Amino acid sequence: MTQNTFNFDEDIDRRAVPALKVHPNVLGQDGADLFPGGVADMDFKPPPAVLSAMRDRVAHGVFGYEAVPYGLLPALTGWFQDRHGWTVDPSHILRAPNVLNILAMAARVFTKEGDGVIVQPPVFFDFYDIIAENNRRLVANPLLLRNGRYEMDFAGLARVAADPNVTMLYLCNPHNPVGRVWMPAELLQLGAICRAHGVLVVSDEIHGDVTFPGHHYTPFATLSDEDARNSIICISPAKSFNIAACCAAFSIVIDANRRAMLQAENSRLTVNKNNAFSNVAMEAAYLHGEPWLDAALAYINENLSLVRSRLSKLNEVDMIEPEGTFLLWLDFRKLGLPPEQLTAFLRQGAKWAITRGPAFGGEGVGFGRLNIACKREHLTDALDRLDRALEEMGRPEDVPNSFDQ
Ligand SMILES: Cc1ncc(COP(=O)(O)O)c(C=O)c1O
Repeated sequence: MTQNTFNFDEDIDRRAVPALKVHPNVLGQDGADLFPGGVADMDFKPPPAVLSAMRDRVAHGVFGYEAVPYGLLPALTGWFQDRHGWTVDPSHILRAPNVLNILAMAARVFTKEGDGVIVQPPVFFDFYDIIAENNRRLVANPLLLRNGRYEMDFAGLARVAADPNVTMLYLCNPHNPVGRVWMPAELLQLGAICRAHGVLVVSDEIHGDVTFPGHHYTPFATLSDEDARNSIICISPAKSFNIAACCAAFSIVIDANRRAMLQAENSRLTVNKNNAFSNVAMEAAYLHGEPWLDAALAYINENLSLVRSRLSKLNEVDMIEPEGTFLLWLDFRKLGLPPEQLTAFLRQGAKWAITRGPAFGGEGVGFGRLNIACKREHLTDALDRLDRALEEMGRPEDVPNSFDQ
């Protein structure tokens, strides 16, 4: 099936439901006319099979307590086997309402208050909140930007991991917001350092299905038996099939002892309940969603080509070439604007509401994250507005360089 089988250009009013991406909580009270390029979901309807499974579930009409549907675990394991060549033992799977829940529970179960948790900024901002809110210590090992591409700083990692009070690392695989799809050699190096220093790897693989041609997601647990046992893998169909509000996620925990510990916390907090809609959505997505996902990825890749070609005509904005995720990490540093002025330029000038770079850590100053999983017409319109705003502002040579102040 091709992209044409599915209509990613359909006009859908996201304001008809309290969608976060267009909500005043995110856009601000005065933000109704902004291009909503922030929150990391797609503007597309999920695969038709998902909608139809959910409709059938509604039509059944009874929503009493439910067990896990028989078909769910085979659907999950089948997906990872067929799509990613990863054989997942169904007994290693723990259900969860969302990935952030797994990240938080892992911190609570496998570290103690005050322990250091490593992150590699610029990185998904909720990692910071979870670490702080659970009274753990943030240990930053920033990525290195080399020739327009982000890499891990392994020497830095070995240094921070050597501290005996540093006990966990949140890996973002693929990496939001810089779009790296980590390669096996990189992950192996990270895994070896973490194992050498007793640091547990909690690998957030929510973006694993979203890769651009030529790039392949490597599930961390496929690296080696030792790495598999030294990891908690966090998975969700939320990004792949645009069903974040269904709250469906799961962890894969290979080490039996760790699995029992996480399961016990799951029970203590009673977050191991099922949701009838997330169950059917997830099962249908993993069983029947592949043609839709391939078509959505092709459409997003065309959006990427559009942004690449339009930005290449500008001198002021550079795009970090993404390997995966539908999020683009844009480098506005040539504009020479300090953070508040850059935000003001994007909001008031370009009428863009994208996620501010500093939300991902200090390394994000001068950057912004643009979500391109939207209707092409909207993206084109947003790029036109950026062009006009740059024209109106004057080219960088006319702008005093206040970036470093
Ligand atoms: C890397 C990453 N992890 C987790 C999440 C949120 O996942 P969930 O909604 O399942 O908690 C996001 C959402 O943007 C994300 O980008």
